[in-house]
Amino acid sequence: MKNMRLDRFLSNSGIGSRKEVKAIIKAQRVLVDDKIVKDPGFIIDPSKTKVMVDNQPVVYKKFYYLMLNKPAGVISATRDNLHQTVVDLLPPQYQHLSLFPVGRLDKDTEGLLILTNDGKLAHRILSPKKRVPKTYYAVIEGKVTFEDIQAFQRGIKLDEDFTTLPAQLTILKSCDRSQVHVTIFEGKYHQVKRMFEAVDKKVVYLKRISMGNLCLDQNLMPGQVRELTQEELNLFME
Ligand code: URA
Repeated sequence: MKNMRLDRFLSNSGIGSRKEVKAIIKAQRVLVDDKIVKDPGFIIDPSKTKVMVDNQPVVYKKFYYLMLNKPAGVISATRDNLHQTVVDLLPPQYQHLSLFPVGRLDKDTEGLLILTNDGKLAHRILSPKKRVPKTYYAVIEGKVTFEDIQAFQRGIKLDEDFTTLPAQLTILKSCDRSQVHVTIFEGKYHQVKRMFEAVDKKVVYLKRISMGNLCLDQNLMPGQVRELTQEELNLFME
């Protein structure tokens, strides 16, 4: 691991913003190899140096992987002048880690969103070549039919030069307000909504329930977040 400044190390470890950790260092609350260090620019080797804040060891993690159950009403961005973002929802210890959402959900869409600072993992999940399946639960205004299943299976033409890959549509309930599961293999703008529009139906509720083999944790309430387990992370490493 590369050597780095003490303030950066502490900030990347979730202790606080650069400004906050500088204050913590100045307040002599930081021990480096058992000695108080007052210089935020002090260089350490994260793999060797023992760092303690208020006598608690600081464990350095280069990458963070979070699962968020995105609520409706927030946007899948890191920063926005007008709207609350998914990053605004994170607990303080995750605020200063430059985390970003892996892909986007519409403002009114809920469900599984991964946030990370690992660009390679994000690429692995988002790369069109990988065709990582994304499954949504949706409520549809209108009766979803077997013909719709067949149309989705053929691929839906969204515009002149784009037809989706074959998508799997499963009807959970077919009536005036139908309930379905739909699995798509790309991530085009408003894709699920536009696919239903193409068969003259309207999505009135949309929630992502899985990406690849990773399922949304049923215990996470909307707005709640937790770190992925190593097992869950491995699902994307194959
Ligand atoms: N498809 C949509 O239409 N919206 C989303 O948020 C995700 C997929």
